[in-house]
Amino acid sequence: MSDAASRIDETRLWQRHVDMAKLGGLSKGGVNRQALSAEDAAARRLIGGWAQARGYDLFGDPIGNLYIRRAGTENDAAPVVTGSHMDSQPTGGKYDGIYGVLAGFEALEALDDAGIRTRRPVQVVAWMNEEGSRFQPGAMGSSVWSGHDDLGKMLAVADREGVVLRDALAKTLAEAPVRQVDGFDRNFHAYIEAHIEQGPRLEAGAKTIGVVTGIQGSQRYTLDIIGEEAHAGTTPLRVRKDALKSAVAIVAALERHMHDPADVVRFTVGRFECRPGSPNTVPGHVHFTIDFRHPDAAVLARLGSGIEAVAKAAVGPCSVTVERITDVAPTVFDPRIVDLVREKANALGLPNMDMPSGAGHDAMHVAPFCPSGMIFVPCERGISHNEAEAATPSDLAAGARVLVASLEALANE
Ligand code: GLV
Ligand code: MN
Ligand code: MN
Repeated sequence: MSDAASRIDETRLWQRHVDMAKLGGLSKGGVNRQALSAEDAAARRLIGGWAQARGYDLFGDPIGNLYIRRAGTENDAAPVVTGSHMDSQPTGGKYDGIYGVLAGFEALEALDDAGIRTRRPVQVVAWMNEEGSRFQPGAMGSSVWSGHDDLGKMLAVADREGVVLRDALAKTLAEAPVRQVDGFDRNFHAYIEAHIEQGPRLEAGAKTIGVVTGIQGSQRYTLDIIGEEAHAGTTPLRVRKDALKSAVAIVAALERHMHDPADVVRFTVGRFECRPGSPNTVPGHVHFTIDFRHPDAAVLARLGSGIEAVAKAAVGPCSVTVERITDVAPTVFDPRIVDLVREKANALGLPNMDMPSGAGHDAMHVAPFCPSGMIFVPCERGISHNEAEAATPSDLAAGARVLVASLEALANE
């Protein structure tokens, strides 16, 4: 085992997960630590304290991404970067995202503990708002970093309570202050993100490490169906403009549009809001979201471009507006990084398999800028975006060993 890999401390890494899971901890064992919440600020303070105790440089960028940098012997050389996100779903698990940040931090500590100086700095990033449940779209911090989304536009996004992201970010930074840098440094030498698999394949194949080859493409839409509020007791059905009935018809039509006998298309309506939400008022407005994914760019484009026409054809007496709020092409990771991760897993004697990612990750926005890749570890029964999400201390540590061995090699290039 490499010196750094042998210094990965399974107990310390597990304890850090336990400590983080207290921030936003829920009764069924999961967490609610949504982006730019008080719990997110607490997580930033916690890891910031650990970073300062180690003497690492801690800083933030204009969209709220947080960086922890361990110096290299040539400190001006482009850093090797790892990380993921600390925000969670509203009823999220204890590992989605935070594992990649904590594994990255563990890698920095293992390098320290092994007395290893790398040529390049090694840097951990906690990307802001990967989940996109409070503020849409997801992977926002990495998307703005990459220029895929516009900083000003994202700072103006509001959550469902009307809180504007710019204000939530200012509050978070007041509660968890760090040195702020202007602009976005995209000069990464390489990027590797560790994450739980969020699917069942590693467990089923009795593998410890997923060598991730790419990420399927994804699109998100919001739909607003406008009808007319009316009295539920007096208004004849034939004159109603019932936004809920139209919305249900649209969802059914979209299910048919997205039907895929091979079960590769992923089509989800995860938020469905009916207004005014009064039992005796005909609904006048329905707002719902579509999350739609496919590994093939051509299929993504073909099915995605049909959504508006399908919705308009099914809307009946109401009207519908369709807005596409994100469109991310499928990602193919650099074979150099894929090979490196596989080589390090093999060198550590860890059973591994190549696999694509069904879930989205910040790595998809980093990949156009530098050689990038990901490392997956198993999660129990593949359950994720669920409080029941579970992973073992030894699998988490195994992923961190592959990570630090890969980072060390890249940081000496
Ligand atoms: C990330 O959580 C995703 O939605 O894939
Ligand atoms: Mn995640
Ligand atoms: Mn997630």
